[in-house]
Amino acid sequence: MRWHDSTTAPTPDSGEALVWLIRDAETLPTWVCDIGCLSEYEQTRAANIRHPLAHAQFLRGRIVLRSALAHWLKRAPAEIAIRLTTDGKPVIEDIGVHFNMSHTAGFALFGIGPRPLGVDVETADPKRDCDGLMRRYFLPAEQDLYFRLPPTRRPEAFLRGWTCKEALLKAIGSGVRDLQNCRVNLNPDEPPAVFESPGTGSWILEAGVVEPGIAWAVAKAA
Ligand SMILES: CC(C)(COP(=O)(O)OP(=O)(O)OC[C@H]1O[C@@H](n2cnc3c(N)ncnc32)[C@H](O)[C@@H]1OP(=O)(O)O)[C@@H](O)C(=O)NCCC(=O)NCCS
Repeated sequence: MRWHDSTTAPTPDSGEALVWLIRDAETLPTWVCDIGCLSEYEQTRAANIRHPLAHAQFLRGRIVLRSALAHWLKRAPAEIAIRLTTDGKPVIEDIGVHFNMSHTAGFALFGIGPRPLGVDVETADPKRDCDGLMRRYFLPAEQDLYFRLPPTRRPEAFLRGWTCKEALLKAIGSGVRDLQNCRVNLNPDEPPAVFESPGTGSWILEAGVVEPGIAWAVAKAA
């Protein structure tokens, strides 16, 4: 996986997955098409999002994604046929391109590549009940590791675990349905790792911080 400079369009030339961030406050790069390239489904979905921030994030996300796919595949953005799997993952089938995206306050993270991948970006929230979410959503072995950490390190470990799990589940495509079927390393002092995952695929995780309090993770097929 390689971080890509978002001022240029992503292309498949390097043969590896490319990942880039775009800040909500940033003017979109010149390779991004305008809203007219969106499908009828995307325009209808946008029209049904009442919250102004979520509406803007969805529109920007989809035009960036569609434009990236158009450059990658050398097609017109409006011709890109994105469909949703039964678990809601946007995909293009049978042409060897994989992509995913994630929003958080102020940022969107995008990934595109020749093999399945999932991406996640999340913001730390001092009001978040990390201990409670850990007990509710994580496996006993993950909780053991988390609760052995000093309390000051736990929010960071939570964010590492959450982003890694979500990136993995988004790469697989099953979303929260498989939350209890995957186990990751949430120790922020160690390299990210997948210990258990649903299905037969094997996955590689990368993770880090955009800036203090904003964590990212990317899972890709090994
Ligand atoms: C997709 C999902 C996994 C993540 O949603 P999220 O954290 O709210 O949102 P993100 O911004 O990271 O990702 C949303 C994008 O992922 C993509 N997506 C949606 N369903 C997906 C799926 N099943 N697999 C992969 N990608 C998916 C879409 O592109 C979506 O953006 P769009 O709605 O603008 O098209 C969702 O199933 C969910 O409900 N998450 C709840 C959070 C949770 O419990 N996480 C557990 C972590 S331990």
